[in-house]
Amino acid sequence: MFKNKKIYVAPMMQYTDRHDRYFLRLISKNVILFTEMIPSNAIIYGNKKKLLEYNSNEHPIILQVGGSDPKEIAQCAIIAKDQYNYDGININIGCPSKKVENGMFGACLMDKPFLVGKCIKEIKKKSKIPVSVKCRIGLGKKQNYLFLKKFISCVSKNGCNKFFIHARNAVLTNFSPKKNRTIPTLNYKFVYKIKKDFPNLEIIINGGIDNIISVKNHLKFVDGVMIGREIYNNPFFLKKIEKEIFNNTTEITRKKILKKLIPYIENEIKENQTSVQSITRHTFGLFTGIKGSKYWKRYLNNIKFMKDNVKNIILNGIENINE
Ligand SMILES: Cc1cc2nc3c(=O)[nH]c(=O)nc-3n(C[C@H](O)[C@H](O)[C@H](O)COP(=O)(O)O)c2cc1C
Repeated sequence: MFKNKKIYVAPMMQYTDRHDRYFLRLISKNVILFTEMIPSNAIIYGNKKKLLEYNSNEHPIILQVGGSDPKEIAQCAIIAKDQYNYDGININIGCPSKKVENGMFGACLMDKPFLVGKCIKEIKKKSKIPVSVKCRIGLGKKQNYLFLKKFISCVSKNGCNKFFIHARNAVLTNFSPKKNRTIPTLNYKFVYKIKKDFPNLEIIINGGIDNIISVKNHLKFVDGVMIGREIYNNPFFLKKIEKEIFNNTTEITRKKILKKLIPYIENEIKENQTSVQSITRHTFGLFTGIKGSKYWKRYLNNIKFMKDNVKNIILNGIENINE
């Protein structure tokens, strides 16, 4: 029933880092992961290894970039494909922060479809990497379907055939990024209508999707669903997605996932001097919905990890939770 439908974990700055993605991949084989947004100039001039390296287990993984200089964006595409083997590149046209607007990227680009089109064209000229755009349904307080349709039409004419649409407007004046993820009203109908008007495009819906019934319902109208906060706060939701969308009935438990994470943490400490907390913080929500969920977060916050006691600490901690 859900053949050819796809589920994506949304890019979330300071959350979906490589440790989080490795952890999520232990729960789900079938979802597609995204990096956090990385500005194009950081990719070109910054510490590439630190910004772009990831574990091969994370595939399929899409690199999200922020930028609007066609040459720079195309250079990022070449780096993503040829040096780091990403499975796709995605341009962020949805981020509403002031800082990003001043750098001429993010949601303000919804007003500049020709420039976005140029970026797409340049990427397609220089690289074979699949390219997509993540955008909003509009700008400002008023919703306007024609505005969205014109944007999609212009950008798709330049070669982009895949759009992730966060079903809210972005309000660039007076609203913080946080408010922009809650206050502008969700309008899923606009996204469904885009799929109807452009049946050949791959359309993925995003925004406020937090349960399996709603995932299944959206999949009747569009090609895929992208989920951010619900997966971060309740990562085991992915197990339900595996079972109900991908028909994967492999028996996994939360405790098994944590046991599988131990060698990864030990290796990270050894190879990269990574702090244990920067990995375990992503597991805070793992026991959401069962007794012990608060205990696990408190336990991790209060315990002192040393280089060589990670395994025992994690095993001792989960012993007190009845899964
Ligand atoms: C903390 C946080 C950071 C985010 N960072 C990004 C980002 O880097 N790039 C992006 O396109 N969207 C970003 N978003 C937006 C999400 O990708 C997503 O569009 C939004 O949260 C709505 O989906 P949800 O309701 O399933 O969380 C971020 C959202 C949050 C909560």
